[in-house]
Amino acid sequence: MLVTGGAGFIGSNFVHHWCHAYPEDRVVVLDALTYAGNRQNLATLEDKDHFRFVQGDICDGALIKKLLQEEEINTVAHFAAESHVDRSILGPGAFIQTNVVGSFTLLDAFRQHWNDHSSPPDYRFLHVSTDEVYGSLSADDPAFTETTPYAPNSPYSASKAGSDHLARAYYHTYNVPTIITNCSNNYGPYHYPEKLIPLMCINILLGKPLPVYGDGQNVRDWLYVLDHCRALDTVIHQGKPGETYNIGGNNEVKNIDLVKMLCRIMDELAPHLPVKPSQELITFVKDRPGHDRRYAIDATKIQTELGWAPLVTVEEGLRQTVGWFLTHRSWWEPLLSEEYQSYYRQVYAS
Ligand code: NAD
Ligand code: TYD
Repeated sequence: MLVTGGAGFIGSNFVHHWCHAYPEDRVVVLDALTYAGNRQNLATLEDKDHFRFVQGDICDGALIKKLLQEEEINTVAHFAAESHVDRSILGPGAFIQTNVVGSFTLLDAFRQHWNDHSSPPDYRFLHVSTDEVYGSLSADDPAFTETTPYAPNSPYSASKAGSDHLARAYYHTYNVPTIITNCSNNYGPYHYPEKLIPLMCINILLGKPLPVYGDGQNVRDWLYVLDHCRALDTVIHQGKPGETYNIGGNNEVKNIDLVKMLCRIMDELAPHLPVKPSQELITFVKDRPGHDRRYAIDATKIQTELGWAPLVTVEEGLRQTVGWFLTHRSWWEPLLSEEYQSYYRQVYAS
């Protein structure tokens, strides 16, 4: 299996899941190690015979072709992406390059590789995508299904939509066995601290303000990353080529309520906090431009057709996540680099 973006948040959780569940499988990670990639996430696998890490870009067609051939890859799990909405607002170019051009390069190399091997029916290309391609819901709208029309609102979601369309087209035009998954907001271990949950965990531990955008009433559906990894495992083994599967956590929460839950759990689990109760740190800040109001996933299809359902409630998942950030200070402290501080100042300046 080739896992792109395997040094990032979801990719590294997936690699750990796969190597634990299928220790005989060979797993090759291809990752460019951008600001979001961290080889530390895979440190415990580095000395395993069945594991290989390659630093490289998914836009590098020659490198991908070589890897597919020499490693006799039959499954690609494609996670590599620029993944943060706020960064896509500051600089959309990298999102088009990696998410659209990179996904195209990978798909096309896989098509040739699959053809060179006489188009085996058991090869798979799993394209991991987001519910954000469906746009924004109002409070009473039904949740996104696999047939909801695409209506992306940010450069990030537009670039992911572009890559979804390419994965779909490669199945319809060339029969390449692609499968697309669209999931809701993940959280858990190894989550880079630009996203809501890790950012809030770390700011509570440092006694820094907790910046809530706008009125805090935006709703997200929260999916524990290990539930997501189980879903992707199910899709790789049982999913049908050419299909799309929505993956959600059945955990719709308003941002402000989520931040308050995190504060409550931190106050309970952390032995020392600079500010307690940590809710005193909550600060409403200027809204994100084009901020989607609500996302919600209808996961009936994967549940009824493939038998997957999420197991972790948001309360349980947040407790696990808070526990992880409390015991992994040596993981997150080095991430608060000058680059991170400069990004932080740009987003939260006014
Ligand atoms: P992440 O930002 O934590 O990790 C992305 C990884 O891709 C990093 O390791 C980075 O180094 C690597 N990468 C970036 N550009 C690359 C390139 N050109 N070539 C090779 N590697 C490159 O992202 P994540 O949160 O783990 O998300 C993984 C996938 O899941 C993405 O495709 C994202 O769109 C999707 N997704 C994420 C969420 C979420 O809540 N995090 C929700 C829905 C979908
Ligand atoms: P985020 O983790 O960036 O994921 P996404 O934008 O992909 O949903 O944000 C989750 C929600 O939290 C989103 O509605 C924006 C909001 N948010 C804040 O209120 N403050 C913050 O500092 C961040 C990063 C996000």
